[in-house]
Amino acid sequence: MITLTQLEKIHNHGAKNEFVALRGINLSIERGECVVFKGVSGSGKSTLLSLIGGMSKPSHGSILIDNLPIAKLPDDKVSHFRLTTIGFIFQSFNLIDDLSVRENILTPTICLNISEEERESRFQRAAEFANITNKSSTRAKDLSGGEKQRCAIARSLINNPTLIIADEPTANLDQRNSLYFIETMQKLKALGKTILIATHDEIFEHHVLVDRIIHLEYGEII
Ligand SMILES: Nc1ncnc2c1ncn2[C@@H]1O[C@H](COP(=O)(O)OP(=O)(O)O)[C@@H](O)[C@H]1O
Ligand SMILES: [Mg+2]
Repeated sequence: MITLTQLEKIHNHGAKNEFVALRGINLSIERGECVVFKGVSGSGKSTLLSLIGGMSKPSHGSILIDNLPIAKLPDDKVSHFRLTTIGFIFQSFNLIDDLSVRENILTPTICLNISEEERESRFQRAAEFANITNKSSTRAKDLSGGEKQRCAIARSLINNPTLIIADEPTANLDQRNSLYFIETMQKLKALGKTILIATHDEIFEHHVLVDRIIHLEYGEII
C-alpha cells in the first residue's frame, strides 16, 4: 500500500539552521499491516508520519500510497486524498475545545459534498464504533482524557479511511484507556485498515496488534 523510496526531510532547507530530520528512508508497508515506529524523542517519528500523511512534503525521494505519488500532487489534490483516505489520531487529541463531540467528529466532512443523511449516518457509525455516542452533545473541553481520545478516534474514522495514522496516541492516557485504544485498533485492523503508530509506549511491545516494529535513530531506520 505504501512505498517510500530514498525519503529525506530537511527542515529549514538552505538556511543556517537547516536540520536533516530523515534520511535514506526506504520502506514498504502492506495493506492491513500494523506498523509501530519507535525511537527516542527527536528521532524523526512525527516527521515521517506527517510525510506519509501528506501534511508536509519531502526534500527528496518519493512516497507512493495506492500508487499515488502524494508528494508530487498539488495541494488541493493532497487535501482531498488526506480527507478521504487517512484518519489522524494525535497525542494531544487536537479537538476543538468549544465544539461538541458531534461537531468535532463531523469536522472532516465539512469540505466534502455529501448529503445530510449521509453525514448523519457517518456520524452514527463512527461515534458508535469509538463508543462515544453517549457524549455527543458534550463540549470537548468537558471530556475526560479517555473520552477525548475516543472522540478523536471517531473523528479519524468519519470518512471511512483505509489508513490510520496515530502519533503517540497513548502518551496522555492511563493504562486502562491505553488498552482500550489498542482494542479499538484491533477492531480496525480486523476490518482491513492499515495502521501506523509512532510511540515509545511499552504497551505496544509484543502485542498481537503489531505486525512490525521499526526503529528510528537520528532520522534513519536501524
Ligand atoms: N518544523 C521544524 N523545523 C525545524 N526542525 C524540526 C521541525 N520539525 C521537527 N524538527 C526537528 O526534527 C527532528 C525530528 O523531529 P520529530 O519528527 O518531531 O521527532 P519525534 O517525533 O521522533 O520526536 C527533531 O530534532 C526536531 O527538532
Ligand atoms: Mg513526535
